[in-house]
Amino acid sequence: MSQRFAGKVAIITGGGAGIGRAIVEEWTRDGGCAVICDLDLHAAEKAAAEVAAAGGQALALRVDVTDLDTIAGMVPATLERFGGLDALFNVAGNNMMKNVEEANDEEWRFIIDTNLTSVYRCSHVAIPEIKKRGGGVIVNIASTAGILAENRCAAYSAAKAAVINLSKNMAMDFARYNIRVNALCPGGTWTPRIRGYMARFPEHEKMMTEVCAMQRMAEPHEIAKPAVFLASDDASFITGAALVVDGGMTAGKRFDLFDSI
Ligand SMILES: NC(=O)c1ccc[n+]([C@@H]2O[C@H](COP(=O)([O-])OP(=O)(O)OC[C@H]3O[C@@H](n4cnc5c(N)ncnc54)[C@H](O)[C@@H]3O)[C@@H](O)[C@H]2O)c1
Repeated sequence: MSQRFAGKVAIITGGGAGIGRAIVEEWTRDGGCAVICDLDLHAAEKAAAEVAAAGGQALALRVDVTDLDTIAGMVPATLERFGGLDALFNVAGNNMMKNVEEANDEEWRFIIDTNLTSVYRCSHVAIPEIKKRGGGVIVNIASTAGILAENRCAAYSAAKAAVINLSKNMAMDFARYNIRVNALCPGGTWTPRIRGYMARFPEHEKMMTEVCAMQRMAEPHEIAKPAVFLASDDASFITGAALVVDGGMTAGKRFDLFDSI
């Protein structure tokens, strides 16, 4: 079994479910220690227990990425348990179906806080410790919505586009400390949240698959594997990139007529 992350410690926000949870599994399967930070402590503890049952090491913490107090406790708890920090996966995020006319100030700030300011805040506390290890990696989960804006997702589209550019900025600022920073842009992915949503709006699944060259959505591990790749030595010359993992959703426009003439 590969142990490419043996001795490495990663914080994974939103690690209790969905894409974050799949990243926890991929990271620990290859020997990494995971600090699972989630708003939902029960989900984080369940994930940590499953890692332990599989022979890995994980710590569960209740962290709200919009709350400075809980973020402040994240790194000290990591150091106490594992003695250092090598990687940060900023995964926690949230969407809201509102355009700029519909959204009020509080709703706008909540989405920007959860998806964008969280990346700044968590990176701000993690980078000093990553520097002490002589370098490391940060992977920020953005979205295809950060590349092609989605209607009625005003704050989310804006936040995810900003996450991509913030990742490029951080790549430039911290390369001198041997810290690589990349964004990953998933397309539609079958996480529990999306499954719940699709159960309410089944017509959305048809729409999501029709706009995708591969005509399907991703499983969480299809996003998690490229995320941990970016955190691995195999990606040693990749920094400031926005890796699109979307089954061809943003590759171009498809005209069915062209296939029939
Ligand atoms: N699922 C998709 O189709 C999709 C597509 C593109 C991008 N993304 C992005 O991927 C990331 C993960 O999405 P997902 O679908 O796996 O989400 P999810 O809702 O399935 O899981 C998110 C986890 O984050 C936790 N969380 C939510 N708010 C939090 C907060 N304030 N602080 C800490 N933890 C919090 C939740 O408790 C949950 O455990 C998000 O940034 C999302 O925008 C998802």
